[in-house]
Amino acid sequence: MFRCLFLILLILVFENDGILFPQRNEYRHYDQLDGLWTFVREPKNSYGVGLENKWHLVDLEDFKNATVMPVPSAYNDITQDINVRDHVGWVWYQYKFYASKQDTEYRTFLRFSSVNYYALIFFNGYLIGNHVGGHLPFQFEVSLNFNSLNKITIAVNNTLSHDTIPPGEFKYLHQTYPSGIQVYPPGFFELTPDFDFFNYAGILRSVYLLKLPKSYIKELKIAAYGNGNFSYRINVDTNNSGDLNADIVVTSLKSRQRVYEGKGLQADVNIQHVELWNPRGYGEPNLHELEIHLINNQTNQIIDIYREKFGFRTVQVTNDTILINEKTFYCKGFGMHEDFELHGRGYNPVVMTKDLNMVEWMGGNCYRTSHYPYSEERAYEADRRGIAVITEVPAVGMRYFTKPIQKLHAQMISEMILRDRNHPSVFAWSLSNEPASDSSTARNYYSDLITLTHSLDSTRPVTMVLDTYYSTDKVADMLDFICVNRYYGWYANTGYLETITKSYIGEIYEWKRKFQKPIIQSEYGADAIAGLSQDPSIDFSEQYQVDVLIRAHKAFDFLRANGSLAGEMVWNLADFMTAQSTSRAVGNHKGMLTRTRQPKMAAYVLKKRYETLENVVIGKDKKNKP
Ligand SMILES: *[C@@H]1O[C@H](CO)[C@@H](O)[C@H](O)[C@H]1NC(C)=O
Ligand SMILES: *[C@@H]1O[C@H](CO)[C@@H](O)[C@H](O)[C@H]1NC(C)=O
Ligand SMILES: *[C@@H]1O[C@H](CO)[C@@H](O)[C@H](O)[C@H]1NC(C)=O
Ligand SMILES: *[C@@H]1O[C@H](CO)[C@@H](O)[C@H](O)[C@H]1NC(C)=O
Ligand SMILES: *[C@@H]1O[C@H](CO)[C@@H](O)[C@H](O)[C@H]1NC(C)=O
Ligand SMILES: *[C@@H]1O[C@H](CO)[C@@H](O)[C@H](O)[C@H]1NC(C)=O
Ligand SMILES: *[C@@H]1O[C@H](CO)[C@@H](O)[C@H](O)[C@H]1NC(C)=O
Repeated sequence: MFRCLFLILLILVFENDGILFPQRNEYRHYDQLDGLWTFVREPKNSYGVGLENKWHLVDLEDFKNATVMPVPSAYNDITQDINVRDHVGWVWYQYKFYASKQDTEYRTFLRFSSVNYYALIFFNGYLIGNHVGGHLPFQFEVSLNFNSLNKITIAVNNTLSHDTIPPGEFKYLHQTYPSGIQVYPPGFFELTPDFDFFNYAGILRSVYLLKLPKSYIKELKIAAYGNGNFSYRINVDTNNSGDLNADIVVTSLKSRQRVYEGKGLQADVNIQHVELWNPRGYGEPNLHELEIHLINNQTNQIIDIYREKFGFRTVQVTNDTILINEKTFYCKGFGMHEDFELHGRGYNPVVMTKDLNMVEWMGGNCYRTSHYPYSEERAYEADRRGIAVITEVPAVGMRYFTKPIQKLHAQMISEMILRDRNHPSVFAWSLSNEPASDSSTARNYYSDLITLTHSLDSTRPVTMVLDTYYSTDKVADMLDFICVNRYYGWYANTGYLETITKSYIGEIYEWKRKFQKPIIQSEYGADAIAGLSQDPSIDFSEQYQVDVLIRAHKAFDFLRANGSLAGEMVWNLADFMTAQSTSRAVGNHKGMLTRTRQPKMAAYVLKKRYETLENVVIGKDKKNKP
């Protein structure tokens, strides 16, 4: 039974092609198709009027209600129309372009870096593929027109239900008074996401027209360890071009020296005296570059080139700690969101750079991609800056553990690993945030997914982010290390500051004692509305957020010294938008920073802590008694 399911999962994986980040070089090119795309919205929750009327065959700009939408960007906050912000169902994007003469020399692909949530892609009138789940890239080969316009049409659907990951609750409502007055308009429904962030939708990251050689480097898997062990696997789309081979050069980006030269589509070797990739505070984040020349084995001609940066480092997990390069790594981190005013979750290099600069300003060395894989650009930046990352699959709030959902979840995991496995900054995979992991169906469900993840990547630990209790959780024992979200002084014992320290110590110690695995406090914190000043503190004031942090930190210092805590991540780097609720005043205000990335009082408390916290304390410093 188990074996059978496992086989199915593996088959699923093999159907997935790896995906490389777009590169422009001697043999490959791309056009970034970002800009203003034509945009038409269907009525809310429409049955699919666009599909029925074959909108992919028409010019959407001819519609009276057509407008433009910037790509990349979430569409929700761009207009003054509340129906666009709160839209549920289908919207349509269209983009037209002429191919250039030079394009005939290449194989061409459309690459979408993130379309949320469900996307149907049409090219020149034909459906060429679909993608589900957002946040991860996908691409399709296309044949360009050279004597007429090319037209990309994308239908995007952001509906959530029990069958989506993440799930949402969809509810039709009606109420009629005896007088005949109907409270809700016809067809009224509420859609409540099972997660606490705004359901931003649309084309969220760049769209590329990739131009690749006839035979090209399709997938690349690199594993590089602290002891210099190095292996790579190159998967090639040969296109019947005969015998292909590869010339390989590895260069240290620090010394600019070649440290390895070889031949072949794969190799397992040991490279002596490599400079290691280290997280910030533990040494330099040294990178190397693998340069592949794909060559025709007979003629020795170069066919394609790809260059990838990577790092040598080893991740290990003991009962107590996470080791990077055999040193205890203590995560001084952040939960975050890709979120900003106007463009929502749309990629923006300004916001990304500012976010990472603020992580460094506060002395952080770590973050989790809560609750979906972040942009590829950010992963490369984390590599370069030495920020260690737990990359999380877009599976938040899971509570329906069915086979079809598991299949989709497995697909998301494999897409995430195929995208991010070469990044040294990624030190663990998180398979879910706050699932209902105290149910026995969850145990079987996650057991398969953990096995799958280990089979796809044996070099990194697997974790999940839990908000269950140590006494009832059914998955924690299967994880390599455990992440726990808890909000003492906020969702529990609001206003009773004196209970916070002992609550954390009491609970986290039991997690540790029961499971004998490293524990990361992956979320803790409190909301503070910037500028709201109350002393003595009251919830939602800046002082209250500081008071909660100080008491949690006291607990963390005790737990670190006790050997019961392997890292901490404050929730959240910055304020972010959520669905409307009485507990959310224009979004979630647990940020150390405002939504425009200005520091609140708590940011200075955290900055002082992260700057002065010694890297390795666990089990040694017994001074910190609560
Ligand atoms: C926009 O126009 C199309 C074509 O007339 C129509 O089918 C669609 O319902 C309109 N969208 C909205 C939100 O009314
Ligand atoms: C798309 O949205 C509609 C609501 O407009 C929904 O009923 C339908 O199930 C969705 N389809 C898919 C494939 O997501
Ligand atoms: C081979 O390359 C051509 C373009 O040169 C492309 O049209 C065709 O689909 C490719 N065939 C395969 C099997 O990949
Ligand atoms: C390329 O040719 C060499 C020498 O003939 C041979 O050993 C090698 O297996 C070939 N490589 C590939 C990928 O076909
Ligand atoms: C990798 O490292 C191990 C020691 O940790 C060694 O036994 C093995 O031979 C190495 N592999 C290569 C290809 O160097
Ligand atoms: C580590 O934890 C396991 C249980 O998961 C336990 O059997 C073992 O004794 C522990 N090792 C040490 C050194 O504490
Ligand atoms: C950790 O804390 C617990 C609870 O206070 C205590 O019983 C235990 O002895 C401590 N262990 C270490 C290694 O300090």
